[in-house]
Amino acid sequence: MATAAAGVLALPAFAEGDMSLAEAPCENCADELTVVSWGGAYQNSQIKAYSEPYAEATGVTFVWDESSAEAVAKLRAMSEAGNVTWDVVDVVASDAIRLCDEGLAIEIDGATELAPAPDGTSADDDFGVLRVNDCFVPQIVYSTTFGYRTDVAEWNGAVPDDICDIFDLETFPGKRSLQRRPIDNMEWATYCNGTPKDEIYDVLSTDEGIAAALAKLDTIKDQVVWWTAGAETPQLLADGEVVMGSTFNGRLFSAIAEQDQPIAMMWDMQSFDLDGWIIPEGLDEARLNRAKHFLKFATDTQRLADQAKYISYGPARASSAPLVGTHAELGIDMAPHMPTDPANAANVHNYDYTWWADNRDDIDAKFQAWLVQ
Ligand SMILES: *[C@@H]1O[C@H](CO)[C@@H](O)[C@H](O)[C@H]1NC(C)=O
Repeated sequence: MATAAAGVLALPAFAEGDMSLAEAPCENCADELTVVSWGGAYQNSQIKAYSEPYAEATGVTFVWDESSAEAVAKLRAMSEAGNVTWDVVDVVASDAIRLCDEGLAIEIDGATELAPAPDGTSADDDFGVLRVNDCFVPQIVYSTTFGYRTDVAEWNGAVPDDICDIFDLETFPGKRSLQRRPIDNMEWATYCNGTPKDEIYDVLSTDEGIAAALAKLDTIKDQVVWWTAGAETPQLLADGEVVMGSTFNGRLFSAIAEQDQPIAMMWDMQSFDLDGWIIPEGLDEARLNRAKHFLKFATDTQRLADQAKYISYGPARASSAPLVGTHAELGIDMAPHMPTDPANAANVHNYDYTWWADNRDDIDAKFQAWLVQ
């Protein structure tokens, strides 16, 4: 339990970053921005680190929409209707690849439209491989991993520390919450069927492999509560509705370190992924100018480091890492709560977003059909 810092209410010890990007002139720019994200603690960290300072400097009004989970479908529909109402959209890397490939997101020029690092390193070099394409401007590295209740009497002192424990109803009885999508669940099921980590995607590229993964998930299906919003598992755990469940590591950090719930992290086979921004294709000039102006500010070195003071996700810029310090309110050192901390990353599932971009529609259909069986 990471509660050692309870009661430590040090004020943030970090200086206000240089605000010049927010204060830079923005000609022919809309004065309202509709930003799409995931709600909860994550969106709150973006509000604190990005939109509040930007609004203060510019007077721009922000409208937040919590539809990121359905971003691809909704942007397809908006594009078809010729009525794109979103300006900046937070998506995972695989969705950014689909949106970019389908022409639903615009390309962002790293050299002119993003801020260089303080030492002059270009944004593209600073993001490195995390900038998976020209449309996607990464923000954070996060993981999908499991939390469990620390007070389950039926477990007789056993502690789930292996991903395959989620399939072990005998040692770890009780409901578990899983995300209502195939990503990660299919990989964990395949791994727990005995497939070595580096062969998981080869196996899942076959019909037999998909069937075997779904059969493994079948063994716990009647004990699963399916979630779609990141805040659900922490709430279900806090309420005792489930005994273990997957969600984004930052959500579990909030429940454990900020709310002091009887929950602990599993970390085994945590799945790394990237989250970042895209700007939709189809905005008028004033909205596009405003979206680009905000994006440049919100993805600079200081802003990405600031976000890590509100949530335990690793900033996607190399130059931000040395600026990550302590939690803005709790004053605790954030490094041990990062998914990338060596102690937490002993056995990581290397989520393959390119494979998923190619296979998502097909496996989604099979997964949804299995869900309603
Ligand atoms: C565009 O979509 C929004 C939100 O759905 C709607 O309120 C608005 O009326 C639409 N505008 C047009 C021109 O269809």
